[in-house]
Amino acid sequence: MKVAFIQTCPEFGDVKANVEAAVKRIARIDAELVVLPELFSTGYQFRGRKELLDLSEEVSSGYAVKRLKEVAADKGAWIVAGLAERAGRKAYNSAVLVGPKGHIGTYRKAHLFWDEKKYFDKGNTPFMVYKAGKARVGMMICFDWVFPEAARTLSLMGAEIICHPSNLVLPFCPDAMITRSLENRVFTISANRVGTETRVKGKALKFIGTSQVTSPMGEVLVRAGRVREQTGVAEIDPRDARAKNITPTNHIFKDRRKDLFRL
Ligand code: ACM
Repeated sequence: MKVAFIQTCPEFGDVKANVEAAVKRIARIDAELVVLPELFSTGYQFRGRKELLDLSEEVSSGYAVKRLKEVAADKGAWIVAGLAERAGRKAYNSAVLVGPKGHIGTYRKAHLFWDEKKYFDKGNTPFMVYKAGKARVGMMICFDWVFPEAARTLSLMGAEIICHPSNLVLPFCPDAMITRSLENRVFTISANRVGTETRVKGKALKFIGTSQVTSPMGEVLVRAGRVREQTGVAEIDPRDARAKNITPTNHIFKDRRKDLFRL
């Protein structure tokens, strides 16, 4: 199975251009599963709640999801994309999974980062695993990487591939995702963006790119650079994520000493 990330550099607020650029790039890739960055259609740095509500979209009727569904149907592919989701008077930092037959699932970011707490509502969706072609996939978003429980929960639920739309600004995540892969024996696909946003005075954000695909053995199968828009494709067998033994007598899930954990 071929999987891919698309590393982008969106223009803040130009939803139509950002979506069309991503759709064009998806249309060109030979991959069954494609992951786009967090907030790929809007850009990242909102100035406030009103701007967020104006730029966000309902999953059932929004432009980005509609176009992603169309290209997924055309290509017979599955796509995970991060976007600003409006749901009534709420606004979430969400990821959607769409496939050839339409919208499959939505995940709303559990762990909001920095100023996201000022204008997004806290995610309220449980971590879920979905079928995407031959693979079982889960979604988490960017800063969720700091909380190992997110990747662990998805893995315990049977995820073989963790799709991870991101807008990383701190440098630690790409290496940390190798550990998330190893400690759960799963594939991960982190799709990041590049570029800088300076929309809030004194809070310039430089995004680190470094999108990557990691394997259950902790290999980096493909990694992008820090500056340019790039696409990365890796050929994987999702079934490799089903082998949870480290030695014949060590199973990463069954060996957990839950009796000693304080959770
Ligand atoms: C982040 O969660 N966008 C750093």
